[in-house]
Order: sequence, then structure tokens, then C-alpha cells
Amino acid sequence: MIKIENLNVGFGEKLILENINLQLPNNQITTIVGQSGSGKSVLMKTIEGLYKPNSGKIWIDDTEITKLSKSKLNQIRQKMSMLFQESALLDSLNVFQNVALPLYEAKQKTEIEIEKLVRENLRLVGLETALNNMPAELSGGMKKRVALARAIIRQPRYIIYDEPTTGLDPIISDEITKLILKLQNSYQLTSIIITHDMDCISKVKGNIAMLHDRKIVFTGKYDEFINSNKPIVRKFLQKEE
Ligand SMILES: Nc1ncnc2c1ncn2[C@@H]1O[C@H](COP(=O)(O)OP(=O)(O)OP(=O)(O)O)[C@@H](O)[C@H]1O
Ligand SMILES: [Mg+2]
Repeated sequence: MIKIENLNVGFGEKLILENINLQLPNNQITTIVGQSGSGKSVLMKTIEGLYKPNSGKIWIDDTEITKLSKSKLNQIRQKMSMLFQESALLDSLNVFQNVALPLYEAKQKTEIEIEKLVRENLRLVGLETALNNMPAELSGGMKKRVALARAIIRQPRYIIYDEPTTGLDPIISDEITKLILKLQNSYQLTSIIITHDMDCISKVKGNIAMLHDRKIVFTGKYDEFINSNKPIVRKFLQKEE
């Protein structure tokens, strides 16, 4: 489980996240919603250990990560994976090499094992025929799928998707959402989806946490979210419909 306690994150004088308390239960999807600039990506990067908070605690399973040394933090990060907002493929590597990269970096698998795993994971995202393609030859949706295959190749326990469907057309968005649900069912994952895509939110139907004006203003199940009477939630729902 990921547990966040009284978290404050800021840059210089500016506080971006204020007194965040949040629990992300294991083997479930939690969707973090909120308007552009509300601090969703900052929260994600703080959970990943990329930003140090001003104060507060973040527990990943039994370990509090905010004051860990770099090497200890790296150990914890082995369990976590992230799908970045801009797929972040390496342009000079082909699809196979991009997906295999985390395995090469970990130096734990043989060449034969790597080949097998890359093929398996590319099959899972429906791209087994694109092994030798370069990123420049792929559509936005295909890039996202390659990035997904790369994000899951080391079988993380936790996966954070930052705006997985933003910038994709509705049909491709739907495919990516379905793929996220498929991965959730194929592996024992605890997933965090950061999004303001109502279509994605309504298909995932997970737990929801809403960020607004530096704070968490709602936590609950999807049904509670869409039926909430809180003006700030209603405003978000009307705007994103
Ligand atoms: N490294 C940084 N240094 C200083 N300010 C930052 C940094 N990263 C983010 N911010 C500020 O923090 C605020 C929240 O940004 P963040 O990227 O978390 O928003 P977001 O909710 O992810 O928005 P979007 O939906 O557009 O991705 C913004 O005001 C942004 O300018
Ligand atoms: Mg963002």
C-alpha cells in the first residue's frame, strides 16, 4: 500500500501540495483527477521519490521513503514503474530495444530470457509485429503501447500512469484504457492513473482522489464521485463532460 501523511511540497516560496493525506490500496486502481496545474504530476513525482517534500511522509509498503538515501530509494523504486505523460521512448533505439531497456539496466536476465519477455509483453499490448520499428515510424497510440510494455516488463508492484490518454483520439484513448485494465487483470498491480479524461475515469471506475487548489478535496469510489454534491466536484464533472 502507498500511504501519504500530511505531505507538503513546494518550489521556493510556492507551495504546490498542501497537507495531502491519501491511501492507495493494493491491487486496485486509484485515479487522481484535477484540473491542469493542480499538482497531479508533482504528486506523482514525489511518490516516485524524484521530488523531496518540505514535510510529511510517504509509505511504500512498510518503508517511509522521504528521508531515504539514494541507494535505499533506488531499491524501493525497483517495485515501481511509471508511464510518463510523453511516452518518453528513446528515438535512436527500436521498439525491441526500448522495451528491453529496463531489463538490460537491471542486468539480471540472459539474452534469451530478455528476448522472450520482450516478445511476451509486446504481444500483451498487441505490437509483437513492430519489434524492429523505430519510434519515428509509430503513431502516438503505438508509442504509448510500447511505453506500456516497457513500464510493465519488470513486473512492478506499483505503476503510475501520468495522463495515459491525453492527446490521443477517442478510439485510441479507449484502446489504451482497455489495455490498462487488461494489465491490471493480468498482473497483481497497484495502479495510479493521473488524468482529467472523464471517458477514461468512467471506464476504470476505481477509487478517485481529486486535487484542487493544492489540496485533496475528494476521496471515494467512482460512484460516490459522480454522485457527489460537493460544488467543486460538480464543477469538475460539468467541465470535463
Ligand atoms: N519542477 C518544478 N519547479 C517549479 N514549479 C513546478 C515544477 N513542477 C511543477 N511546478 C508547478 O507546480 C504546479 C503544478 O504542476 P503539475 O505539473 O503538477 O500540474 P498537473 O496537475 O500535472 O497539470 P497537467 O494536467 O497540465 O499535467 C504548476 O503551477 C507548475 O508550474
Ligand atoms: Mg501533469
